[in-house]
Amino acid sequence: MSEELRIGLIGCGFMGRTHSNAYLQVKHFFPSRYKPVLKVCCARPEEKDKLEAFAATWGYESLEFDWRKLMARPDIDLIDVCVPNVLHHDIVLAAAEAGKMVVCEKPLAMNVAEAKEMVAAVERAGVANMASFNYRRVPAVSLAKQIIDEGRVGRTFHYRATYNQDYTISADVPQGGMSLWRLDGRVAGSGVTGDLLAHSIDTAEWLNGPIRRVVAYTETFIKERKHSDTGRVEPVTIDDACLFLAVFANGSCGTFESTRYARGRKNYNTFEINGENGAVFFDLEDPHILQYFRYVDPATGKKIEDHLTGWQRIHVTNSEHPFMKRYWVPGCTIGYEHTFINAFADFLASIDGGPEFHPTLRDALRTQQVCEAVLSSARSGQWTDV
Ligand SMILES: NC(=O)c1ccc[n+]([C@@H]2O[C@H](COP(=O)([O-])OP(=O)(O)OC[C@H]3O[C@@H](n4cnc5c(N)ncnc54)[C@H](O)[C@@H]3O)[C@@H](O)[C@H]2O)c1
Repeated sequence: MSEELRIGLIGCGFMGRTHSNAYLQVKHFFPSRYKPVLKVCCARPEEKDKLEAFAATWGYESLEFDWRKLMARPDIDLIDVCVPNVLHHDIVLAAAEAGKMVVCEKPLAMNVAEAKEMVAAVERAGVANMASFNYRRVPAVSLAKQIIDEGRVGRTFHYRATYNQDYTISADVPQGGMSLWRLDGRVAGSGVTGDLLAHSIDTAEWLNGPIRRVVAYTETFIKERKHSDTGRVEPVTIDDACLFLAVFANGSCGTFESTRYARGRKNYNTFEINGENGAVFFDLEDPHILQYFRYVDPATGKKIEDHLTGWQRIHVTNSEHPFMKRYWVPGCTIGYEHTFINAFADFLASIDGGPEFHPTLRDALRTQQVCEAVLSSARSGQWTDV
């Protein structure tokens, strides 16, 4: 007999949809004691029609137009935060105080000070919590982690990450409003650093350990844009592009590049790690493939470089691959939405006594600290400790 996990979801945009879909789908693929129930969804009063359509599409039982009301409802176990970054802090504090479990989208907060308060609140309340760095659970990315943990990459020398898009090149794109709140520093906290590089940093530290020092350069190519809320042309206060060098605690060095001005790139999220024994490369635009270069067999220590040496393109769809035995037969692919399903599957397992869930809000605080060091370095032009 399954137990209900009653969800209160705040925000009915892009992430509201991915999370709602994952709550509905997870039980179809991952047996669990807990069955997510879409109890209530919440958005602003001016989005009444949109929220009604959203609730009907995904099957929410009720609607609210003030997120504070969700906290007082005894019929909600988990608050899911899918709203612009400026709102994360207050919602998470209230949810923790009300004893609700918390799922929070990334970046965790507007800054480290907020993020620390959020971590303290969920830990004080002792509530299960999850930060939504979903790319860890692309099966090919999880396989990269497995390959590294098995010692097949060995001592790492280089980490190289990109996260590039192209949707803000036109000066006509306004700041503010649905989705484009990302271009307004007062709502987003930062530009590509918090929006895109937070993902790259989370993946990098998960795969290659902590980043110790960074030096960064940011650029804002278009200095003024019309604001959707005010109708006025206002200064742009976010970073349009960010490039930084990093030194990891394990002695390897990293390069990170992110921009929304890479013509032709839509969601070009890649990483490559070059180690002593091997290397891995991943590209989200080709998400089922993990490229692996094998130089040394870790079992024998024997060098395997010969006339057949080369990069392997592993089609990550076998039942031996992370998450894949829950889905289809080998060779059949899954999609972007499954990264959220996989995350909720692991979260549900963790609250049922399974392995501890990561990333938690505390893990996301770490990412926030790296982001803040990057932005601080971009301002000072100096190497900055994390
Ligand atoms: N994990 C990922 O890959 C990923 C991808 C995209 C966005 N995000 C993060 O998810 C969050 C939401 O982004 P999005 O793309 O869904 O944005 P969006 O613009 O598509 O949707 C935002 C939603 O928040 C709602 N909202 C705004 N103010 C509100 C308020 N005061 N009360 C209740 N609802 C309110 C809006 O109605 C809208 O439904 C952000 O933190 C973003 O950084 C994460």
